[in-house]
Formats: sequence, C-alpha cells, structure tokens
Amino acid sequence: MNEQIATVFGGTGFLGRRVVRALATAGYRVRVAARHPEDVDFSDIKDQIAPVAVDIRNERRVTEAVSGSVFAVNAVSLYVERGDLTFDTIHVKGAERIARCARAAGVDRLVHISGLGVDEHSPSKFIRARARGEQVVCNAFERATLVRPSVMFGSDDAFLSSLKTATLLPVVPLFGKGNNRLQPVYVEDVAAAVVELARQAGGQGQVFELGGGSVYTYRQVLQVVMSHLGRRRVLLPVPFTLWRLLVATLSLMPNPPLTRDQLVLMQSDNMVGENAKTFADLGIDPYSLEDLLDECLPTNSG
Ligand SMILES: NC(=O)c1ccc[n+]([C@@H]2O[C@H](COP(=O)([O-])OP(=O)(O)OC[C@H]3O[C@@H](n4cnc5c(N)ncnc54)[C@H](OP(=O)(O)O)[C@@H]3O)[C@@H](O)[C@H]2O)c1
Repeated sequence: MNEQIATVFGGTGFLGRRVVRALATAGYRVRVAARHPEDVDFSDIKDQIAPVAVDIRNERRVTEAVSGSVFAVNAVSLYVERGDLTFDTIHVKGAERIARCARAAGVDRLVHISGLGVDEHSPSKFIRARARGEQVVCNAFERATLVRPSVMFGSDDAFLSSLKTATLLPVVPLFGKGNNRLQPVYVEDVAAAVVELARQAGGQGQVFELGGGSVYTYRQVLQVVMSHLGRRRVLLPVPFTLWRLLVATLSLMPNPPLTRDQLVLMQSDNMVGENAKTFADLGIDPYSLEDLLDECLPTNSG
C-alpha cells in the first residue's frame, strides 16, 4: 500500500464511487467527500476509506478534506438547479473552491471531471457553467487535469435505464431524426483513467476526452438496446420544436426526466475530438456499449 491520501469529492456518485474503489485498489487511503458520505457501503474496503461530510460550498470543509492529500478529484455533479444549488455555485464557484483549497494545501495533482461538449457560448446554462468551471479551475490550479467523459454507462446508470424505459412504449420518439452521434463510455474505464492520472506525477495540465470504443447515432443506440432486450418498436422522428415545448412543461416537475440542457446536448454530436488526448494516451482500451450490455442491462431484470 502506498499510504498516500487521495480525496474524491462526489465520492458517492455514479462515477465517484468507482473512482474511490479504483484508488483504494491502487493502494491509496481515500477520503470520500460528499454531503452524505455514508450513503455508499464501502465496508469491504473500510480500512482504506475515510468518509468526510463536505458541502463544496463550505470553504472550511473543503480545506479540511484536502489537507494532507497528494491527489484530489472533483466528481461532484448537479444536473437540475434547486434553490441555492445552482450551476454557478457548484460547477463554477464550488469547482474553483476545490482547486484553490487544493493548491493552498499543497495537493500535488488535481483531476477535474467535466464533460464532452463544454462550450462557453452554448445555449445551455449547464454547458456554459461547465466551460467556465474548467477556466476557473485552471486559473486556481494551473496544472489541473481536465477530464471530459462522454455519456457514461454502467450497471446502475441513468443512460441505459432511461432507454430501457423508453422502449416500453410501442412507439419510441427520436430526438429529431436521431442522427446525432454519441460515444457512450463505460464508467469503470473512466475511473481507471482517473487512477492512471493519479499515478502520472509529471502528466498534469492536460485535457482528456474520454469516449467509448464505438460511436453510434442515437437511433443506433436505441436499435442496439432494443435488439438486446428482444423488443421491436417503431422509432418516430420528433422535431426539436416539439421537444422544447415538452421540456418547458416538464421543467415544472421537481425532478424532470428530461431537461433543456440535456435537449441541447442531443442536438449535436457528442464525440471525442480528433486532436484530443484520450484513453490511448493512458494505455487504456475502452469498452464499447455492445461489449457490456449483458452486464449493464440484464434482460431478466424489471
Ligand atoms: N453521468 C454521466 O453520464 C456523465 C457524463 C459526462 C460527465 N459527467 C460528469 O461526471 C461527474 C460525476 O457525475 P455523476 O453522474 O457520477 O454524478 P452523481 O452520480 O450525480 O454524483 C454526484 C456526487 O456529487 C456529490 N455532491 C452533490 N452536490 C454536492 C455538494 N454540494 N457538495 C459535495 N458533494 C456534492 C453527491 O453526493 P451528496 O449528494 O451526498 O453530496 C455525489 O457523490 C460530473 O461532473 C458530471 O457532470 C457525467
């Protein structure tokens, strides 16, 4: 065991809990930093885990969480704004706070999880905040590494389970004609990449775009999922103007199943850029969605 301390903000999340496990396997002592750090059962690796209750809006708590760490990861997310929890407080100010406190505490390496398609001019408030977040993190911690995953899938994900639900309908609506391209990435591959970045003491200050082994159109993703589940459904193109009306109505719900920001993402391709650093630069051969459907979307479950 290397006995070095790593802090994972958002360490109970879909990605964060895999990062915690992968870092523990690599020998780190891991601080699981979240508002409810006991939400995930890490009892099998409890000797290497320290839960730390932190809200990243609280400077003192963030400082305590990074004190003595060599490596920190920000895998905190917020997809829907609620009250004080806004894209600005979490993805910009919170991200900046983690970077600044990590720098002040002498943390050697910081990985900031962002997302493919960040764009400061996007019509989506979420995507604009992610772009600003990247900028403020790099200003506060010059050699921070930015990791931009594509949409992630795994055994308990939101992506495949929402597609599974959508294919219960006799007619499945497409976003436009369903021709936008995606590169779904296995969440465990992204966690492995983060651990590789923890090891690379010299390789900081870079941007990695992480996509899975295959690119699909949204229509193809649905076809792959339907064929796996043994469901035959009609795929119906639906213009984005109709989707926008639907999303405006759904926005009245506390947990809308589709947000305006997700709709913006579905209007363009979401793939790794041609000149980006990616899994290949970390010696990782990423899985494709089809490789893991049996594991991530069992046909005998609900
Ligand atoms: N999921 C995807 O397909 C996808 C794709 C591309 C990029 N990403 C990015 O990957 C990152 C991780 O996403 P995810 O889907 O794994 O997120 P997630 O499952 O929603 O987990 C979010 C984590 O953040 C913690 N958190 C939320 N608000 C917090 C706060 N104020 N202070 C401290 N901790 C807080 C949560 O724990 P508590 O609630 O206990 O605080 C939880 O541990 C995000 O940056 C996301 O944008 C995700």
